[in-house]
Amino acid sequence: MTEFDAPFRPTCLPGLARIQFRAASFYLMAGLGLGIVMAASGNFTLKGVHGHIHLLGWVTLALTGVVYALAPDMAKGALARWHVILHNLGLPIMLAALTAYLSGVAAAEPGIAVGAVLSTFGLGAFTLAIWRAL
Ligand code: HEM
Ligand code: HEM
Repeated sequence: MTEFDAPFRPTCLPGLARIQFRAASFYLMAGLGLGIVMAASGNFTLKGVHGHIHLLGWVTLALTGVVYALAPDMAKGALARWHVILHNLGLPIMLAALTAYLSGVAAAEPGIAVGAVLSTFGLGAFTLAIWRAL
């Protein structure tokens, strides 16, 4: 092992960054799978789910993970923990409810709101953490 290996060893990453990267890569594959199903079937009903799996899931989870990797002290705070909890809780609720809603289950609409608000509070905590730390 050289001195250059050390910063990239996964064990050197803050735990919250590892959670974000693992979750992000899950959403990446889920979104790609849904994209292929949509393209193959010609049925784009769930394109809003596909877009937000990728953008609020893969892109935003990974990007916030990069911020925690770059600023490990920020990842130690309560705001960062709240962000990771609420983002990873709200997103699957929002996506599941959006999938049901777009598939014709009108009663699922409040679930979209609940998931979106939880995710947004989480990202609000992330924003506060950035302003406090940087
Ligand atoms: C295997 C790879 C992918 C396939 C097959 C795929 C397929 C599709 C299809 C069929 C649509 C709907 C197009 C339409 O309505 O005419 C779409 C929309 C979209 N895709 Fe993908 N996609 C892929 C990867 C990605 C990735 C990697 C991202 C972002 C990181 C992405 C972001 C979006 C967005 C933002 C939309 C628009 C959603 C909306 O209008 O609500 N896609 N994609
Ligand atoms: C809680 C968070 C979010 C909520 C509640 C939300 C909600 C919405 C809604 C209601 C639409 C319109 C859907 C439609 O016309 O069918 C939309 C579209 C879209 N959103 Fe989001 N969004 C959120 C986060 C994000 C984020 C973080 C990104 C990007 C990083 C994003 C990117 C997009 C894109 C690209 C479209 C499609 C625009 C288009 O096709 O005209 N959204 N979103």
